[in-house]
Amino acid sequence: MSVAYIVSKLSDYSAAALEKAAAECVRACENEASAVRNDGELKAFRDRWVGRKSGILSQINDLWLKGAPKDAKREAGIRVNELKARIQELVDRARVGRDDSGSATAERVDISLPGVRRPMGAEHPVIKTTNEMVRVFQKLGYSVAEGPVVETDYYNFESLNFPPNHPARDTQDTLFIAGQRGKPQRERLLLRTHTSPVQIRTMEKMRPPIRIVIPGTVHRNDPPDASHSPMFHQIEGLAVDTNITFGDLKGTLDHAMKEFFGSSVKTSFRPSFFPFTEPSAEMFVSCFICGGSGRRGADPCRPCKQTGWIEILGCGMVDPNVFEFVKDNGYDPKKVSGFAFGMGADRIALLKYGVDDLQLFFQGDVRFLQQWA
Ligand code: PHE
Repeated sequence: MSVAYIVSKLSDYSAAALEKAAAECVRACENEASAVRNDGELKAFRDRWVGRKSGILSQINDLWLKGAPKDAKREAGIRVNELKARIQELVDRARVGRDDSGSATAERVDISLPGVRRPMGAEHPVIKTTNEMVRVFQKLGYSVAEGPVVETDYYNFESLNFPPNHPARDTQDTLFIAGQRGKPQRERLLLRTHTSPVQIRTMEKMRPPIRIVIPGTVHRNDPPDASHSPMFHQIEGLAVDTNITFGDLKGTLDHAMKEFFGSSVKTSFRPSFFPFTEPSAEMFVSCFICGGSGRRGADPCRPCKQTGWIEILGCGMVDPNVFEFVKDNGYDPKKVSGFAFGMGADRIALLKYGVDDLQLFFQGDVRFLQQWA
């Protein structure tokens, strides 16, 4: 190796002399960079050139700039800055090289090191709950149906027997796609507020008998809080055949809840109203947290508000007016009957896993989600 580079004082500050000195410096740096053979040498090389206190760059600063005569200071300053940038680049790019035999010395692969760990993903608790519930119905012979999240007013409301001025159609409740005012109401686009439009979409395509279960995301114009979210998940069901009765509805749902929550839960049906079912009901299950007692030891049971019952879903017998919209595909309301139900997957997941804030499901915090891994 040639004699190590030393920064010398400059006596000549002409452009030509500065250029020559800078070129010499760069050449020396390049040579030393290419001679680096291992990590130790690389570190020594970096310290020698850009070390804060006595690195070559700081020496150049002292010896060339401070010693420059007044009228040459500006020009020398520009030169030195260019040189510093160049040296810094060489130092940044410097890597451990190869020895004469051509094999990497310090960069050898250490096969004893552990590999890169790729963490396993986990099913999101809402999707897990959805899949479990869907499975319960699949075992009863239901098939899965899906539909679009951006829906028309026709499928989301009109064909489900909502009257034209029903409050659910209001922008307070429903998120509409902008710029639809010019269209007739039934063609206007919106984000579906429930999975029920898939009932009609499926009946348009498949003749009775049908048994379908419909998982999917829905949207409502609700500000997010511990129990609301503008986007959430529903699981819908529809069974249509000849002679389906309210007894079938109760038997099917009671069986499904026992299968999902455990065989000791009871179900209770209370009258309700939905435009697309008649009669309609809300179904409660006995609280699977306190066992229906309303108390947890000395404390009141919060999830069931001490009632011993938890509301799980809305349901009812398909309204004949709904069948009218798909009458031509075999759904003559005089010949067929059916039941439908819809539940919130997020709410069930909250209750099942004892989570107290719905927002946790949507924030994507890995520390929270890892609990299901
Ligand atoms: N679509 C209703 C809702 O979102 C639930 C429901 C579905 C009720 C099917 C009855 C029958 O609240």
